[in-house]
Amino acid sequence: MATTKTSSTKSKTSTTLLPLFLIFLINLNLSESKLTLDFYKQTCPQFDEIIQQTVTSKQIQSPTTAAATLRLFLHDCLLPNGCDASVLLSSTPFNKAERDNDINLSLPGDAFDLIVRIKTALELSCPNTVSCSDILVTATRDLLVMLGGPHFNVYLGRRDGRSSVSTAVNNFLPKPTMPMSQIIDIFAKRGFTVEEMVALSGAHTVGFSHCSEISADIYNNSSNSGSYSSYNPRFVEGLRKACGDYKKNPTLSVFNDIMTPNKFDNVYFQNLPKGLGVLKSDHGLFSDNLTKPFVERFAADQDRFFKVFASSMQKLSLLGVMTGRKAWWRWWCARSPEVWCTCKCKYFEAQVKELQNEVRMNAPTLLMRTRSAYSIADLFGRKTQFGLNFMVMMSD
Ligand code: HEM
Repeated sequence: MATTKTSSTKSKTSTTLLPLFLIFLINLNLSESKLTLDFYKQTCPQFDEIIQQTVTSKQIQSPTTAAATLRLFLHDCLLPNGCDASVLLSSTPFNKAERDNDINLSLPGDAFDLIVRIKTALELSCPNTVSCSDILVTATRDLLVMLGGPHFNVYLGRRDGRSSVSTAVNNFLPKPTMPMSQIIDIFAKRGFTVEEMVALSGAHTVGFSHCSEISADIYNNSSNSGSYSSYNPRFVEGLRKACGDYKKNPTLSVFNDIMTPNKFDNVYFQNLPKGLGVLKSDHGLFSDNLTKPFVERFAADQDRFFKVFASSMQKLSLLGVMTGRKAWWRWWCARSPEVWCTCKCKYFEAQVKELQNEVRMNAPTLLMRTRSAYSIADLFGRKTQFGLNFMVMMSD
């Protein structure tokens, strides 16, 4: 009897506790996966100040940084893996990363350099705390405001992606040569309306385009019916002159908004009906029936443009973010902190050698997580001269 009573009490207790445990798990999961405005309040109180200071000094030193970072942000966040800073990861001899996809080759070094500077400053103040993806989003917002653009709240607590594969970029980023329907579709797949897509394209109110992006449109009238004819004749002459030497000098670029190139405003939209757009896709926004009404609206109403732009930027910054313990943050934004060993570890030794070299050049410490792991310290002969404490993750 006693035994029966005990087991029935036990089972009653466990039936009462089970829902509580489940509620606890669900809550844990929710609180882990929640982005908040003050995520670093306790762990890195200087977060905002350090980013603001670094961004300001970099933008003063290199005024092209703001537009460069805005484009970097787009090219990270619009992909299906969302804002995970995977665009910052470098290629290795075994993997071509996103940033080496053709469309990303023109992403300017100033933007990458800015993130490195911020990350270094933050690591000194709050080591192993802040993700590269949170840095990229916050820096972009701060720079946008510096240029005169609208403010949006940045929710924090993103984790960084571990992998970055060049081919994953294909068909997820817009190209000027794409028909407008395809560009609309790219943004629609990520949940953006046509109005939001047009507003985001208003980012071309700042920054540059390389002459190679427009050469087919400004020099070859016949094979690009429609695009050349929508340029203002005097403007296209000016573009031809500015780009005259582009084959010899591939760095030649032109302003995206010739009227107010360094100011974030709605003049870009006012330029389009006058044929003063630079890229073929800029012209497309005014010639397409679906997008044209929004171009006209934003050209007439800067407040509306700023409102839709700010909310769309925030939406973009929240796409597909990873949070909680499912992912992690990188100590070093250009490098995944683990070496995935594939193909039955065929490349294991070579990968480790490459990592050793990078570490020699760059890293005082790297933090690693392990599963069934080999210690790199073993490969360095147990103790490394750098006091390294990191591991290589094995996948097979
Ligand atoms: C609508 C489709 C879009 C197309 C086809 C497009 C394409 C391009 C191209 C080809 C360039 C010139 C890159 C170079 O030559 O270095 C450029 C520049 C730029 N794009 Fe876009 N883009 C689009 C939308 C956007 C959006 C939505 C944003 C941001 C929210 C954006 C931000 C920028 C910025 C800021 C620059 C100037 C970069 C710099 O000065 O370094 N673009 N874009």
